[in-house]
Amino acid sequence: MALREIITLPDKRLRLVSEPVTKFDKDLRRLIEEMFETMYEAPGIGLAAIQVGVPARVVTMDLAKKDEPKDPQVYINPELVWASDQKATYEEGCLSIPEYYEQVERPVSVKVKYLDRDGKPQEIEAGGLLATCLQHEIDHTNGVLFIDHISKLKRERVIKKYKKAAKRGGDHAPAARVEPSSRGL
Ligand code: NI
Repeated sequence: MALREIITLPDKRLRLVSEPVTKFDKDLRRLIEEMFETMYEAPGIGLAAIQVGVPARVVTMDLAKKDEPKDPQVYINPELVWASDQKATYEEGCLSIPEYYEQVERPVSVKVKYLDRDGKPQEIEAGGLLATCLQHEIDHTNGVLFIDHISKLKRERVIKKYKKAAKRGGDHAPAARVEPSSRGL
């Protein structure tokens, strides 16, 4: 097993629409294990495969608090099948946009269809943090970032900042070490 490199803005691969998973084989199991390892190391609570440069519709997540046992969850080919009219605002961050946090408004509850790691169809109804994370990660599989949900002015400002940093010799690695308390998605 190995840690994978998390790609960050302005890497164009973040805008790719990922492909559905069709084979539940050794390669997929390895990708999932390495995504977990990379996500825990970051540290983050959610990761989509495209964030490690793999355009496959695979999401790993663990919303357990620090003093709770690990709760690794895998969502393959996740699809939003219902979203509430009621919205909630939550401060989001993203491992691919290190050290940037902004309030994002999204439906407060959702229903998501997905396949588990054995390829078995599942459905989950989620609210709160889980609903936010699922929507954030499903967005990643479609090439959408949380900054697409904020004002154009703020979005352009943050994209410019990361483009500049990339030009300067551009390694975000030190910045990617976020505070343990912050929530990386
Ligand atoms: Ni993210």
